[in-house]
Amino acid sequence: MQLSTSAADALQFNGGLLVLTRATGAAPSDLERAIDERLSGALSATASRLFFAGKPRQAVSVDTLGRLPFARVLLLGLGDGSNGPVALRDVAALAVTDALSQRHRSVGLVLPTGDSQTIALHLATGASLGVYRFDTYKSKDPDVPSPLVDTLTLFTGDSTAAQAAEKGVALARAVNLSRQLVNEPPNDCNPARLEALAHELGEKHGLKVTVLDFEELKRRGMGGIVAVGQGSRELPKLIHLEYTPKGAGAQKAPLVFVGKGLTFDSGGLSLKPAKSMEDMYIDMAGAAAVFGLMSAVGELGPDVPVHGLIGAAENMPGGAAFRPSDILKMANGKTVEVLNTDAEGRLVLADVLHYGTMLKPQTMINLATLTGACMVGLGNYYAGLFTAHEDLAVQLQAAAEQSGELIWRLPLDKKLAESIKGQRGDLKNLGGPYGGAITAALFLQNFVGDTRWAHLDIAGPALSDKDDGHIRSGGTGFGVLTLWSLVERAAA
Ligand code: BES
Ligand code: ZN
Ligand code: ZN
Repeated sequence: MQLSTSAADALQFNGGLLVLTRATGAAPSDLERAIDERLSGALSATASRLFFAGKPRQAVSVDTLGRLPFARVLLLGLGDGSNGPVALRDVAALAVTDALSQRHRSVGLVLPTGDSQTIALHLATGASLGVYRFDTYKSKDPDVPSPLVDTLTLFTGDSTAAQAAEKGVALARAVNLSRQLVNEPPNDCNPARLEALAHELGEKHGLKVTVLDFEELKRRGMGGIVAVGQGSRELPKLIHLEYTPKGAGAQKAPLVFVGKGLTFDSGGLSLKPAKSMEDMYIDMAGAAAVFGLMSAVGELGPDVPVHGLIGAAENMPGGAAFRPSDILKMANGKTVEVLNTDAEGRLVLADVLHYGTMLKPQTMINLATLTGACMVGLGNYYAGLFTAHEDLAVQLQAAAEQSGELIWRLPLDKKLAESIKGQRGDLKNLGGPYGGAITAALFLQNFVGDTRWAHLDIAGPALSDKDDGHIRSGGTGFGVLTLWSLVERAAA
């Protein structure tokens, strides 16, 4: 999809589908009225028949039957502005979705009034997110080719909107990369595939790539990631992507992002029941978000060093698998009693977080589909945020607000830390019956020293079971946009 901006009169748009928006309760714009007039009132008549009031997801469309240069007009509800970037992304996604279903290959979208740079950015992101489909594994029908949107024209008088739109497309590309990785099945998307992807991104964006293989992980005493990965024929890897800016920002302490990259989580010997295992190909969504972010960083070039660390492993049962009752020696010297091999994410992250502390970060943030308990507590739209650093909590909330992603802070309750004290070792990898998301976060805290650190439990929002505005069913790419906002602020 080719995206451009135009200062021309949208009434003259020579294409397939022209999309207008109207805010809740607002009067029709001059353009809407002009179009309605040319259609002898068909647009306003349809709008009133459908009780169109500019609410989100409301849509009215009319074929123009040769009375206008474009084939069809679509009027979308924009809402009351309370939904920020999400409303704009949704509108653009619904516009391209309509075009795809009607097989229009060119779309014009008239910018709503407001800050046109911000609006163009979110619209461009939404449109690019809206055309994403996971069809890699679908056979193609030669008689009925898949619908495509070739061009999207944003109508705005502001010439600076083009650059903002370009950035919006770059960000969507990063989110779509993350979605694609989540959606890929674990028989193809294994630690080796993630390693190959890291090299690919490294070449493309000039990132330094270091991969610690199984032997190296053992040599470094990383007993957590080694234990979790040893039961699979696909051996674990620690993948390290490094971005260094060209400008003065190169002197700054780096931002470090860490992703849980379990390409499949069977539970190991503490095997999951079949139903719970179905979705466990998404257990690398944290890693996918870090890959997406690093590709955005490589493309957009912020003036601050950024590192991405991935703990990649497959959690499988078998003769070589680690066991409940094993005692692991972690990279930072602490020992961990394994009570449940399904609480594997924290074991992998522990070693990768320790590795991260040695990069002397100004801030370290990890993303992980860590606990079902977090979904029980917060539902499946919010990520859980854990940090001991008040200012970082505030910064992350602001970044999430800017990106339209939902995060909610949960406490690192010191009293619950009792429940992960080990009997035979320093720690155990399983807490008590309550506060499972919190005890998992407290476990991680043992491996970050005094680093300014936050943990995002994205088990809920990593996956969507349906298309929903700019969200496509499957991997959501959650986290990429919030992390980017954070990087952008650190670079400013
Ligand atoms: N990968 C899972 C968590 C998960 C569950 C992610 C559902 C996405 C959707 C994690 O490794 C896990 O199995 N956690 C256990 C922890 C328990 C054994 C302490 C859980 O949440 O049940
Ligand atoms: Zn697990
Ligand atoms: Zn897991």
